Amino acid sequence: MATARFTSVQIAFHWLSALLVLLIIALPYGADFFASLLGGKGNVFTLHKSLGIVVLLLTLLRLAYRGRKIPPQQLEQSPAQRFAAKAGHGLLYLLLLMMPISGLLFGSKPINLFWLVEIGPLPFSSNVRGVAKDVHILGQYVLFAMILGHAAVALWHHYVRRDDVLKGMLPLVR
Ligand code: HEM
Ligand code: HEM
Repeated sequence: MATARFTSVQIAFHWLSALLVLLIIALPYGADFFASLLGGKGNVFTLHKSLGIVVLLLTLLRLAYRGRKIPPQQLEQSPAQRFAAKAGHGLLYLLLLMMPISGLLFGSKPINLFWLVEIGPLPFSSNVRGVAKDVHILGQYVLFAMILGHAAVALWHHYVRRDDVLKGMLPLVR
């Protein structure tokens, strides 16, 4: 069976976003290590926030593009499997929006975007900031679980079911 592939634009969006998200998560957790490379913890968070805003923009572009370009129907899936895949991907998209938006909302200091321009802080009350911070801190655990589950399902398709789901999202595969 020929591999039903995502378009190269969808593949580029997927792997660029995945790489950025992993780096964004690594930065605060490896803050001591990255601080020695970047010249201080302030710079670690400047990069964390700047890349987070890039992910927000990429996700908005990706969703606009996806709206016009329906992803390939990979397999003869049962309705339950189709629902699970849709729900899982929907939640991943929601997290790709929610994490940077909550990050943007909770800070009370200006964000130094790639050391080039300062934006914000956005004019929200301390209540809104408090809720946004909770969402950011708790949302990370949902994101971790989703990424692990998602990658595990992709590898299960490839190595156990031996179908074309992972191939459809890999670059340079026919
Ligand atoms: C895809 C986007 C993002 C992801 C996945 C993400 C994830 C995380 C994670 C995992 C932490 C560590 C939390 C902890 O120590 O328990 C964190 C902390 C933080 N994030 Fe983000 N973040 C994102 C975007 C942003 C953006 C856009 C901003 C601000 C504009 C931001 C501001 C912060 C700040 C200030 C902290 C430190 C919180 C604290 O410990 O007080 N993040 N983020
Ligand atoms: C931060 C990490 C990741 C995020 C946020 C993420 C997010 C997403 C999203 C939102 C989709 C749905 C695409 C669409 O239908 O428009 C998707 C699809 C996909 N992802 Fe990921 N992904 C990540 C990591 C990975 C990894 C590590 C793998 C492989 C081991 C992978 C393999 C796939 C595959 C094969 C699909 C297509 C699934 C299908 O058509 O049913 N992803 N991903």
